[in-house]
Amino acid sequence: MKILVTGGAGFIGSHTVAALQQAGYDVVIADNFSNSKPAVLENIRKITGRDFKFYETDVTDTASVEKIFAENKIDGIIHFAGFKAVGESVELPLKYYSNNLQSTVVLADACIKHGCNKFVFSSSATVYGDNDIPFAETMPLKKTTNPYGETKAINERILTDTANANKGFNVALLRYFNPVGAHESGLIGEDPQGIPNNLMPYIARVAKGTLKKLSIFGNDYPTKDGTCIRDYIHVMDLAEGHVAALAKMPQGVSVYNLGTGKGISVLELVTAFEKANNLTIPKKFAPRRAGDLAEYYADASKALRELGWQTKRTVEDCCRDAWRFEKNNSK
Ligand code: UD1
Repeated sequence: MKILVTGGAGFIGSHTVAALQQAGYDVVIADNFSNSKPAVLENIRKITGRDFKFYETDVTDTASVEKIFAENKIDGIIHFAGFKAVGESVELPLKYYSNNLQSTVVLADACIKHGCNKFVFSSSATVYGDNDIPFAETMPLKKTTNPYGETKAINERILTDTANANKGFNVALLRYFNPVGAHESGLIGEDPQGIPNNLMPYIARVAKGTLKKLSIFGNDYPTKDGTCIRDYIHVMDLAEGHVAALAKMPQGVSVYNLGTGKGISVLELVTAFEKANNLTIPKKFAPRRAGDLAEYYADASKALRELGWQTKRTVEDCCRDAWRFEKNNSK
């Protein structure tokens, strides 16, 4: 089976390529390095000892995508490529809507034309909006809090409508909770450009001394210690969730939460990082960040029931692996 992975040089994409190759899949990567580096590709090869075909391509471009499908018999696609900075999406909504939606339209169209009948989409728990917890796939979705989240919700609808109109075209919508950690080798991991928006890479850079102090956004939420609660999932568990979804993909449209099923607070994550790595993270409390929900985590039972997948790695594994990657990384 040959799988096209868009955004395969990115954080979740690169780990998923490694997991796919280790499970015996042939991989073709398309990435335009808009938020990743070419060196990642060599590091994936070092991890798996296997090669893949690479296209430096913007997947919003129909002709470039057509070329990939013409040159390779693609059996399935995992679509990660997309912009993902929540704050930037509020400032530049059209950048997000044009890029994140156009790519899905172009790729789904190529799949239909070329008889590729498996489409796995990189969605997010953000599509649940401010909903009851734990988030379950059966819940009606509520309004998302920003254009980035809205592109995830609209892409889910684009793919659902396309699958409904094209019998045999099967779609798995994977809703990620908070991916963190890095490959156990320390060779690939999360490497955001500039100042990180997300919590774990920010902690890792404070640990390294690249950033001075962690600001914890809000300590007056209605939670056990006043800080927000999230479901942090090790990126390799997440990557293996994609392999399971490809292997066991039902007919038509299916939706799966990929999370641990457990929520922990910002303070608990920081403490776990300090303990796992035997260091201290300078931190201070700061005002709440606009758009943050107090608490959410996954009901992860459907993926276990239908895909036979559940997370294996602990919060300590997440913290140790994130730090190993940050230390190894030359910045
Ligand atoms: C965000 C996105 C989510 C996306 C995910 C990628 C929304 C509302 N959220 O999730 O869709 O899939 O990123 O991982 O669209 N925090 C701090 N200090 C920091 C950074 C974060 O205290 O410097 C706190 C935040 O307030 C939050 C928690 O850490 O409570 C996690 O934040 P973050 O890593 O940015 O993820 P989310 O906002 O949960």
